[in-house]
Order: sequence, then structure tokens, then C-alpha cells
Amino acid sequence: MSNAMQDMHIDIGLVNTIVARSSLSFINGEEGILEYVGYDIDDLARQSTFEETTFLLWNRRLPSGNELSDFANQISSNYDLSESMWDMIVSLPRDASPMHALRTLTSALSLEDPGVDDPSEEANLRKSLVMLAKMPTLIAGFDRHRKGLDLVRPDTTATIADNFLYMLTGEKPTERMARAMDICLILHADHGFNASTFASLVTISTLSDMYSAVTTAIGTLKGPLHGGANQGVMYMLQEIESIDAVEEYVLDKFSNKERIMGFGHRVYKAYDPRATYLKTFAKGIAQDTGNTSLFEMSQKIEEIMDREVGAKGIYPNVDFYSATTYFSLGIDLDLFTPMFAMSRVSGWTAHCLEYLQENRLIRPRCDYVGPHKQEYVSISQR
Ligand code: CMC
Repeated sequence: MSNAMQDMHIDIGLVNTIVARSSLSFINGEEGILEYVGYDIDDLARQSTFEETTFLLWNRRLPSGNELSDFANQISSNYDLSESMWDMIVSLPRDASPMHALRTLTSALSLEDPGVDDPSEEANLRKSLVMLAKMPTLIAGFDRHRKGLDLVRPDTTATIADNFLYMLTGEKPTERMARAMDICLILHADHGFNASTFASLVTISTLSDMYSAVTTAIGTLKGPLHGGANQGVMYMLQEIESIDAVEEYVLDKFSNKERIMGFGHRVYKAYDPRATYLKTFAKGIAQDTGNTSLFEMSQKIEEIMDREVGAKGIYPNVDFYSATTYFSLGIDLDLFTPMFAMSRVSGWTAHCLEYLQENRLIRPRCDYVGPHKQEYVSISQR
């Protein structure tokens, strides 16, 4: 270690490092509390909308009625894509994964934005709004393209949640389905310096642009230890043949030192408050849509996990019951993580906007443990 690094400590995985201050989301991992700008997640899930929650994250206060309807109109007037973006969607390979497609298409939005490198706060807010409004269209458009269906243009009179389900299926969702979707978007909107948000901050701290920051974040969210876990939960539920096979399945995973997707969290050592809410919610939707067997299987997994590792603070996280909720809404498994992204874009951009106010390049160090003073041998003699 060089002298300049003597006072530094190594913290693999940044488990014990606070990177910056933020006034966006508060997480108390011991008591299972999550607040956005001081508002409890449960209150927001019950009473707010995704549009209002995004306004809260971007402005750090709730909007007035007029402000909210102006904001919602600005978003909906940006739902649609340019003809070249629609063409790009249909030019993508049909067997591509929707998460890869979303990352590529979000990045492509920057190509047609003349203000892409304008660093002003006003321009950054505008770009955030463009991505928030268009990501659902990109996801639904790609899904219909890969299924060989006609693309559905957005309904600019509908909310983000309502319009997304409409573009996906070509049919107006029921009020209950649209509200379920809206609640999932609220619950996933922000979560402190999680891996994808941190990745977006690394990018924006170099004074790169908002599209690059969000593209970085999408790539990071995709991993199975992060946002990819929600589809992992559903693959697991489908792999287990019946409720009677749950116990053996979970115990086998333990003996193979494999993880159970949708359990455990870096910060929560108590029940994830988003999972508390989603559990009740998932049960109601499962009953409405006749998917109770999957819900019962989930409960059985939870019981076994509680018995085996509950004492270590490993409980269901947000991904566990959001999986059955999305499944009950009839959504394809590989769209679960893109839907997480279309919600979290509100948090990624809120954090980037906040961090830029007192920007400092994020550039950690590593402890070099390789060799020194090696003799260079020319290639002909190796
Ligand atoms: N199944 C079985 N054991 C687990 C699990 C799990 N899901 N999660 C943690 N553990 C065990 C782990 O084996 C380790 O045991 P030991 O101390 O005996 O070696 C201990 O708990 C601590 O695990 P860790 O990996 O050191 O903890 P971490 O803070 O680095 O990991 C995590 C957090 C989310 C990566 C991890 O819990 C995990 O892999 N969970 C499954 C994937 C998942 O559901 N991810 C979604 C996270 S929440 C939403 C999001 O961020 O997208």
C-alpha cells in the first residue's frame, strides 16, 4: 500500500461505506422502514400515484392539484416515439431479451435529442421526463414486436400504469389491474444507493449525460442479485412442481449453497416493508385471477426460509411477492425486470439530479496485491 493510502480502509462491496448525503429515501433496515422524502411507503402505496411519487422525488415535496395535472400532461405528451425509434424497435432480433432491448433502446433515445449534452438542471429534468415517459412504450413495443403483433400507439389520456398495460395487451386494463400496476411502480421507485442507482451516480459524476447514467443503471439492475431477482422468483415457482415439493426444493438449494431468489437484503435485516405490502396485495390479486396455488407455494417457501434462516435476518424482499403480482396480471416473466426499470428510472434520475448539485467525481481506490518489479521479456522469448 502506498503511503498516501495508509489511512484508507478496504470495504469490499462497500458494505460499510456511506458515499454521499441524500434527502430522497430513508431506509431503516433494523425496523423495516422505508420513506420517500419523509413519506412512509405504505401511505404512498395506499394513497399516491406513480406520477405524484415521481414529482415528490424530483421536487422533494408533494405537488398541488394543478402542478400534478400539469406534470402528468407533460409525461403523457411524451409517451409516443419518433418514427425512427418505432423502426428501431421492429429492427431488433425477436429473440433478444427485453432487458437487453430496453438498455439498447433507452441509449438510442439520446441519439435524437439535440440537448443530450446540455448539463443544465432544466435540460436534465427534461431528459429525465423523456425517459420516464418513453420507457414503457419501448418495453411494450418490443414485447409486441417479438410476438409478431401490431404495435400499439400510446393512449395519451391514460396514466403511465394504465397506458403501459394497454400498449402491452391492446386492451384497456380494468381499474383494479391498472391500480395494481401503479402500486408496483410506486413501491419500486427509489431505494437509496442501491447498486443500479450507485452505478448511475458513478456515470453522472463524470459529468456524462442523463441517458448514459440511466443506460448504465439498466445494465446494473439486470443482474440476478439485484432487479433480475423478480423473474428469478417466478422461474423458481414454476420449477417447483407442487406445494408438496417446496420443502425438498428449498433444502436442496441450501445444501447446494444456492440462494433462494427474493430473499435477503443488504440493508434490511427485518421484513422489507415493500414486501409486507405486496404480500397482502399479491394474495388479493391471486384470488381474483385464480392463481392461488402460486401464492400458497410462496407462503410455504417463506415459512421454510423463516425456520431455516429467519434468525440471520433473511426475509422476503420486494422481488418475492412482486413476482406473483406481475404473474397474476398476466405479464411475461422476462418483462418483470424491465418493469422494475421503468419505475426505478424515477429514482435513478432523482439521485443524479441531487448528486449534481454538489458533484464530486466518484473514483474509489483498490488495494493492489499483484507483483512488482517484473522483468519484461520480449514476446519472441516467452
Ligand atoms: N438465500 C439463501 N441464503 C442467503 C440469501 C438467500 N436469498 N441471501 C443471503 N443469504 C445468506 C448468505 O448465504 C450468507 O450466509 P453465510 O453468512 O452463512 O455465508 C448470508 O446470508 C449473508 O449474505 P451476503 O451475500 O453476504 O449478503 P449481502 O448483503 O451481500 O447480499 C443479497 C444481499 C440481496 C445479494 C442476497 O441476500 C441475495 O443474493 N439474495 C437473493 C437475490 C435477491 O433476491 N436479490 C434482490 C435484492 S432486493 C431488490 C433489489 O435490489 O433488486
